Amino acid sequence: MGYEINNVDLVNHYTAEALTGFTVSFMQALGATTEEADIIADGLLTASLWWHPGQGQGLEKLIRYHRRVTAGDEKPAAPMTWVQEGPAYALLDAANGFGYVSGVRAMQRAVAKAQTTGIAMVGVRRSNHFGIAGYHALQAAKAGLMGWVFTNARAEMAPWGSTQMVLGTNPWGIAIPRQDTHAIVLDMALTMSGKGMMRWYHREGRAMPDNWALTPDGRTTTDPMAAMQGPLLPIGEYKGYGLSLVTDVLSGVMTGALFGLSVFQDEPNHNVGHLMLAINPTMFMSAADFHARLEQLVAEIKQAPAIDPDRPVLLPGEVEFGRMAQRGQSGIPVSRETVDTLRGLAADLNIPFTL
Ligand SMILES: NC(=O)c1ccc[n+]([C@@H]2O[C@H](COP(=O)([O-])OP(=O)(O)OC[C@H]3O[C@@H](n4cnc5c(N)ncnc54)[C@H](O)[C@@H]3O)[C@@H](O)[C@H]2O)c1
Repeated sequence: MGYEINNVDLVNHYTAEALTGFTVSFMQALGATTEEADIIADGLLTASLWWHPGQGQGLEKLIRYHRRVTAGDEKPAAPMTWVQEGPAYALLDAANGFGYVSGVRAMQRAVAKAQTTGIAMVGVRRSNHFGIAGYHALQAAKAGLMGWVFTNARAEMAPWGSTQMVLGTNPWGIAIPRQDTHAIVLDMALTMSGKGMMRWYHREGRAMPDNWALTPDGRTTTDPMAAMQGPLLPIGEYKGYGLSLVTDVLSGVMTGALFGLSVFQDEPNHNVGHLMLAINPTMFMSAADFHARLEQLVAEIKQAPAIDPDRPVLLPGEVEFGRMAQRGQSGIPVSRETVDTLRGLAADLNIPFTL
């Protein structure tokens, strides 16, 4: 979608070092181990570099960690265990620990197995919100493999033809490694947008596109507040609904996690499910052949003329890697509302507020 920040008064800008340093000390003050704090800081930094603050994946997640950990609903240093394992699959019980941490451990295991088996699948149960799907998929691409990641999420999408929310935004992250440049990263929710972005449009006083969400009684609207209690609309109408259902089968039903109406409902037992696939792209041919063929496809796509010369044809992930480079120079935006809340939480945790 490539959301723009239209009202720059709503954000502050920081360096990567500032965001990482604050996140690590915040998470450690909540009881996270050094490994956990480092993983979460890397994930939230990546999200802050890639996405619009209204998408809600950056530092705003610290507020959620604070709420859930201090209530005892989500566990730092959780004793995650491997409950099943074969040559090309494994299942991780995340013991109600941090989703980012279980996701990284699961993808590391999938990559290690796929190095020998060609393809591996790792499921995760009893997890929590794992952040951005593309972050986990990218771990595979960094090792030269393709990553394909699914998670389920709170019911916010109705089955096509209804207004009753049964399925989640259930994002997919798919990363395809390229030589000497960024991976292709398709990282997307299966809904047109999310409630966070709707709230952001409301704060900016803007109408939203009428294909983002319905009012609770099933009418289309461009008023974000009129649709706040209604269902989010799937990408591609009934096709996106179908993908969301399949995603819940793969990540929720199949792993033993909660799914559908139950997942994310009980605060101490969100029991989110994820599924990670690692695929070795050189199962059928040499790495040189694979990459030559992939670059040919990329070249064919890139030579397609843009309808609007100011909006060139892009690969999935290019918007985000472009923003990452630009924000590395100009600073990384964090919503002022988030900064103000974090200032209070830092005082609660007795850590210096360094933002
Ligand atoms: N863990 C969860 O429960 C959860 C739930 C929902 C979303 N998320 C995360 O939120 C983030 C944002 O998701 P989103 O769906 O709002 O993202 P989005 O709609 O902004 O982008 C989706 C994808 O479209 C691509 N894209 C955008 N414009 C393009 C163009 N012109 N040409 C080609 N490709 C283009 C992007 O590179 C990206 O891969 C993701 O990281 C997602 O994983 C997480």
